[in-house]
Amino acid sequence: MKITVASGKIEKQKTGGLVLPIFEDEKLSPALERVDRALGGTIQRLLKRGDFVARIGSVSMLHPDGKIAAERLLLAGLGPRKEFTLNRLRHMAGTAAAHLRAAGAQDIVLFHDGLDLDGVEAGQALAEGSALGLYRFLKYKSKGNNNHAKEVKQITLLTEVAASVRALQKGVRTGEIIAAASCSVRDMVNHPSADMTPTVMASRARELAKKHRMKVQVLERAQIRKLGMGALLGVASGSAQPPKFIILEYRRGGKKPFVVLVGKTITFDSGGISLKPPENMDRMKDDMAGGAAVLGALQAAAELKLPLNIVGLLPATENMPGGSALKPGDILTTLSGQTIEIINTDAEGRLILSDALTYACRYKPAVIVDIATLTGACGVALGNEAIGMLGNDDTYKQMLREAGERTGERVWELPLWKEYCDYIKSDIADMKNASGRAGGVITAACLLSKFVQKYPWVHLDIAAVALTDKDRPYTPRGATGIGVRLLTQFLREYAKKRS
Ligand code: BES
Ligand code: MN
Ligand code: ZN
Repeated sequence: MKITVASGKIEKQKTGGLVLPIFEDEKLSPALERVDRALGGTIQRLLKRGDFVARIGSVSMLHPDGKIAAERLLLAGLGPRKEFTLNRLRHMAGTAAAHLRAAGAQDIVLFHDGLDLDGVEAGQALAEGSALGLYRFLKYKSKGNNNHAKEVKQITLLTEVAASVRALQKGVRTGEIIAAASCSVRDMVNHPSADMTPTVMASRARELAKKHRMKVQVLERAQIRKLGMGALLGVASGSAQPPKFIILEYRRGGKKPFVVLVGKTITFDSGGISLKPPENMDRMKDDMAGGAAVLGALQAAAELKLPLNIVGLLPATENMPGGSALKPGDILTTLSGQTIEIINTDAEGRLILSDALTYACRYKPAVIVDIATLTGACGVALGNEAIGMLGNDDTYKQMLREAGERTGERVWELPLWKEYCDYIKSDIADMKNASGRAGGVITAACLLSKFVQKYPWVHLDIAAVALTDKDRPYTPRGATGIGVRLLTQFLREYAKKRS
């Protein structure tokens, strides 16, 4: 699909679907009034009778029957002006585009004027919203059942103000890059674990590196052992799939210190010997969503040519209950030398991350951000609406909070007080990998905190938001691709501050 910008009159647009965004509490803009006159006053009549209320996400389809050039006209609500945000603009665009595709439109024109936003921001949000809203995962649907029919081929943002075109174009280019990265993460996460093994993740990383001239290194089991990553090795010991430790380096930042992104990459989490119950176990193919998000963020950073040095680290393995699997009561020696007593083999994410975080410190990074589907407890605390955030550095936490508000991938902080760290004291090792239910998000982060030395670090728990079981604005059911837009926005802001 291509997204472009054009200037011209609304009435003249020959298109399968023309989208006219409307605020809930306002009169029609002069441009829309003109279109309404051409249609004989239909829009005003719909609004007056209350047949269409311009709430956010609501749409109404009209057939202009030759009165204007468009084949279909879609009124798309934006809600009240005073509640308007970029996220609502994405919401409107995603809903409208999906609606028009369902109706059979293969090219769509989105009218821009009257939003009263910065053109670059509006262009980006419209591009992101429509591209993300149109996402589908059809790889495993057989041909000939109509699922493959009628993709939208072309989206055009329309303005009647020629001077707006450049800014919109700039935004569109950014939005396209970021949406494509999010969609490729959704694809990875939606794949069955049998087809998204650590080996496949490693080849995805290699492809990314090749395309963008990044340095890539994939450590195999023998090297992982030799380095002393006892935690990653321990988790991998129950699986027939070989583990990989994937290292990507993106260098476009001269002598700037590295930003290290660490992504939990458990390609399937059965729980191991502490086996999970069968209900919803299929969802545990999403346990590599953190690692996928790191690949997505690196892809976006490279395509946006951000002037930064970034490292991506993906400890990748399955968590399986094989005959040589890790057992409760076992003790692992991590890369840092610290030992961990295994209470529950299902608390495996923090184990592989402990080795990855220790490795991250080798770069003497400016900041480490890890992203992980780490705890079911995160959903208990925050529901399915927020990423859990904990860390040791207020500046970077604040930057991520702001990036979350901007992108709609919102984060909410939980406390990392040292009192909680007592919960994971072990009688016979340096710490244990699980304690009771209480404060489950926090105790997991406490364990991670023991592996970041003195470096600024922020942990993002995406366990409750990597998959959605209901359609959301511009996010259809399935993998959300969450983290890509958040991390990319964070990196863009970071690049601005450090230039
Ligand atoms: N991958 C899971 C966390 C998870 C749960 C992700 C639900 C997505 C949806 C993680 O490895 C896990 O199993 N965590 C345990 C930790 C517990 C044993 C201390 C959990 O949350 O139950
Ligand atoms: Mn687990
Ligand atoms: Zn897990």
